[in-house]
Amino acid sequence: MSEFAEITLGGQSYKFPVVTGTENEKAIDISNLRSDTGYITIDRGYKNTGSTQSAITFLDGENGILRYRGYSIEDLAEKSNFLEVAYLLIYGELPTQEQYKNFTYEITTHTLVNEDMKKIFDGFPVNAHPMGVLSSLVCSLSAFYPMPVNPLSDRTYLDLSIVRLLAKMPTIAAWSYKNSQGHAVNYPKNKYSYAENFLHMMFALPVDDYEPDPVVANALDKLFILHADHEQNCSTSTVRLVGSSHATLYSAISASICALWGPLHGGANQKVIEMLERIHQDGGDISKYVDKAKDKDSDFRLMGFGHRVYKNFDPRAKIIKKAADEVLESLGVDDPLLDIAKQLEEIALRDEYFVERKLYPNVDFYSGIIYKALNIPVNMFTVMFAMGRLPGWIAQWLEMRQNREPIGRPRQVYTGANHKEYQSLDKR
Ligand code: ACO
Repeated sequence: MSEFAEITLGGQSYKFPVVTGTENEKAIDISNLRSDTGYITIDRGYKNTGSTQSAITFLDGENGILRYRGYSIEDLAEKSNFLEVAYLLIYGELPTQEQYKNFTYEITTHTLVNEDMKKIFDGFPVNAHPMGVLSSLVCSLSAFYPMPVNPLSDRTYLDLSIVRLLAKMPTIAAWSYKNSQGHAVNYPKNKYSYAENFLHMMFALPVDDYEPDPVVANALDKLFILHADHEQNCSTSTVRLVGSSHATLYSAISASICALWGPLHGGANQKVIEMLERIHQDGGDISKYVDKAKDKDSDFRLMGFGHRVYKNFDPRAKIIKKAADEVLESLGVDDPLLDIAKQLEEIALRDEYFVERKLYPNVDFYSGIIYKALNIPVNMFTVMFAMGRLPGWIAQWLEMRQNREPIGRPRQVYTGANHKEYQSLDKR
């Protein structure tokens, strides 16, 4: 008989099959646990719960391995480009030359957003956080493109919706920034690559001849690749959960943007820079902040440190650290925050508290430093993350729907009051 797990409840024994993944990952399939035994499991934060079986991203946190559809993140970051990686994640294979040409053409020619969307931008206050604006505008795409997308029966609208999302995201993102500056928006230009177009929409002004810097565009493209998917994290689980009710693709993506915004998730990249700036302004006393992070009476954490699944170095952080050095050198930027980040990393990695808990720098620790060198405003950092993560969210949503996964609906153990007799208001 194949492998199984056995549990004994009330003197009776039950067997549950063991599922083995292609990289030999093991899971106990408890799908029949409640119907067979009447019991459920409790797993706060889903630390031991596999919500699905997925063929998109392989992550080995112990050994610091990350692969998209079998390809290592190191290879993809070095040799590929973001739209090729987006195609790989969503459609499962690297595109042929013809497929790549068509895919990039479709994306390049769908970058305009409906002019009526500008009225929504106008309704936001200038100091609105761009993540709030981005999630609202992405959700509003459901209103502008209301045709239902059924991934099992209708390829046309499916592919069109995927293209629209990928194409319009940089436009919406850059316009949310322009809105926060009180500036007129820039329309996309088809001659530019994905990253160049975003830079053009962010930084071109009617009064100058802005041309995107290829060093900056390449660095951005690489950062997008590094963020493109990361299996069942908080925002990806959100896209699958919201999508499992068959809500629209746009609303599921909008929900995942909101989940990403939190400082314990993608919002950490903004918080890292704010933390490094605080240390810098406070005289650069790094040990003081390391001690604070270790103090259980303080809520302070070293932002950009620790990860739910990486208990070894985050492979993306390694690539980003190297890229940060290269970009800063090539742009001639001398940023004291980079020195503080390096010292902080060195001190924390030697400290028993961090060693014991296997707390290493994560992807967000160095990404903010590159974004800063590329002149991306700090409140746009998490938006950059969302742009990079978009293909992963789409791929995970598509896989969930194509596998006909049931609506996500966890259970609970109730700990509230037992039944009480209602007393009318005049008796209380
Ligand atoms: N600074 C100080 N202590 C930390 C940190 C940190 N950054 N991260 C974890 N710890 C400590 C915890 O206090 C806890 O200590 P204890 O065992 O003495 O109670 C232990 O390490 C385990 O931490 P948990 O919070 O239980 O780990 P969890 O897996 O739930 O959380 C998380 C992971 C949220 C990433 C956490 O490490 C954290 O808050 N990091 C800072 C925020 C951050 O950088 N987030 C980005 C993550 S990457 C991404 O989402 C893109």
